[in-house]
Amino acid sequence: MSAPVDPDRSEDVVRRLRAAGCVFAEEEAALLLEAAASPAELETLVARRVAGEPLEPLLGFAEFGGLRIHVDAGVFVPRRRTEVLAREAAALTRPGDAVLDLCCGAGAIGAVVAARVPGAVVYAADVEPAAVRAARVNLDPARVFEGDLFAPLPAELKGALAVIAVNAPYVPTDAIGMMPPEARLYEPAVALDGGADGLDLHRRIAAEAPEWLAPGGSVVIETSDEQAARTAGLFQAAGLAARVVSDDDLDGTVVIASRRPPAR
Ligand SMILES: C[S@@+](CC[C@H](N)C(=O)[O-])C[C@H]1O[C@@H](n2cnc3c(N)ncnc32)[C@H](O)[C@@H]1O
Repeated sequence: MSAPVDPDRSEDVVRRLRAAGCVFAEEEAALLLEAAASPAELETLVARRVAGEPLEPLLGFAEFGGLRIHVDAGVFVPRRRTEVLAREAAALTRPGDAVLDLCCGAGAIGAVVAARVPGAVVYAADVEPAAVRAARVNLDPARVFEGDLFAPLPAELKGALAVIAVNAPYVPTDAIGMMPPEARLYEPAVALDGGADGLDLHRRIAAEAPEWLAPGGSVVIETSDEQAARTAGLFQAAGLAARVVSDDDLDGTVVIASRRPPAR
């Protein structure tokens, strides 16, 4: 149980966070006070936050889709906009379905699908060892695989996935320098860099995904408004029926690309 918070200490933390430019200083102070087990640990956490480190790895979790997702330093922090992807993936999932959270990071999308669809069998994969370690905390660790895209998955999943939910990197290489420092400096390039036009991973996923989908199954993939037509075009060229779903409130855009069900 944590010790009662000294109001002076709380005010001091808010003041230091505000001076460092934290917009939500009160909320962040409350979370840091909750996370710290001792005054010394609080001091370390506040000093690191004031120096510019992202909040969530300091806390050890990110809020996503109503869940607390475990995240560590060096792992991509799930973004609010990606709740659109998690919502659409969950809506397409039925109990008993096999679902893949591809390029899973901490596994936030898979965790939301598992929480909202009891009985869904959620698999996940990422190329980055730190992401895989975090995802193994948030998901069934036996179903989290490390490797390049589909390569590490068990072969029996071919043709069996009802939903492939994927938030792969899609930032064009030249735009990474314009990202906020919390992303640019603290998240690995492999989590952000989508190549010259941002769509290198989308091209590879569109080419490989159809053979992993069950008949009638869908890929739900995050993209930007600006890139959405090109992402959709890649999946159409691979033989899937693609549509774009945007949510202005969450500022999120996904392409849903579906394999046609078998003809009757
Ligand atoms: C934008 S982050 C998204 C993470 C997570 N899906 C989320 O939304 O919080 C992209 C993730 O893709 C992973 N990644 C990049 N290239 C990959 C590849 N070739 N195969 C598998 N994962 C990859 C990165 O390690 C990173 O965790």
